[in-house]
Amino acid sequence: MSTPAASARPEIGLEPMAATHLADVLALGRQVYDTSVKPYTSWSLSAIAGHLDGEASACWVALDGARLAGFVLGSMGFDQRADWGNLEWIASAPDYQGQGVASRLVKACVAALTEAGASAVVTDVESRNTASAALMRRNGFEASVSVTLFVREVRPAS
Ligand SMILES: CC(C)(COP(=O)(O)OP(=O)(O)OC[C@H]1O[C@@H](n2cnc3c(N)ncnc32)[C@H](O)[C@@H]1OP(=O)(O)O)[C@@H](O)C(=O)NCCC(=O)NCCS
Repeated sequence: MSTPAASARPEIGLEPMAATHLADVLALGRQVYDTSVKPYTSWSLSAIAGHLDGEASACWVALDGARLAGFVLGSMGFDQRADWGNLEWIASAPDYQGQGVASRLVKACVAALTEAGASAVVTDVESRNTASAALMRRNGFEASVSVTLFVREVRPAS
C-alpha cells in the first residue's frame, strides 16, 4: 500500500537506524512525544537501545539528506508473546508530517518483523492520538484489546 504523498517526496530515503542516528532520534522523540498520557512508558536512550539492541531489530530512519524526517522503533517480542513483533515508537518531524513518511516507516518496520518470523505486529495507540490511529488503520492494523487506565486521585487527610 503506498500513499500518493509518499511518492511526492522521493528524496526522503529510508535507512536502517544506526548508532549515529541516536542523538537526532532522541531529540525528535523529546519534541513530539507527550509521555505523560501513557505513564507506563518513558522516552529515553534506553527505550531506543532496547529496540536497536534486539535480536531482530526493526528500526528505521527517514532522511532528507542529513536531516531526520522520521523514525520507527520495533523489535521482536511483546510481553508474553515472543512470536509477536512490537512497533513501539514512531514519529515524523513536524515539517514532514502529512507527507507519507510515517506510512513508509510502518511498512519497513512490519516487513523487517515479518522477515524475522513475526506472526503478528502489535502497536498501542493512546485513545486521543487520532493521527496515530489513522496511520495504523491505513496500514492494515485493526483495533484489538482496549485497556482503560482508571485512576483514583488520593488527597492526604488534613
Ligand atoms: C502519527 C504520526 C507519526 C503520523 O506521521 P505522518 O508522517 O504525518 O503520517 P503519514 O503522512 O504517513 O500519514 C499516513 C496516514 O495517517 C493518517 N494521518 C496522519 N496524520 C493524520 C492526522 N493529523 N489526522 C488524521 N489522519 C492522519 C492519514 O490517514 C494518512 O493516510 P493518507 O496518506 O491516506 O492520508 C505523526 O503525526 C507524529 O509523529 N505524531 C507525534 C508522535 C506520535 O504520536 N507517534 C505515535 C505514538 S508512538
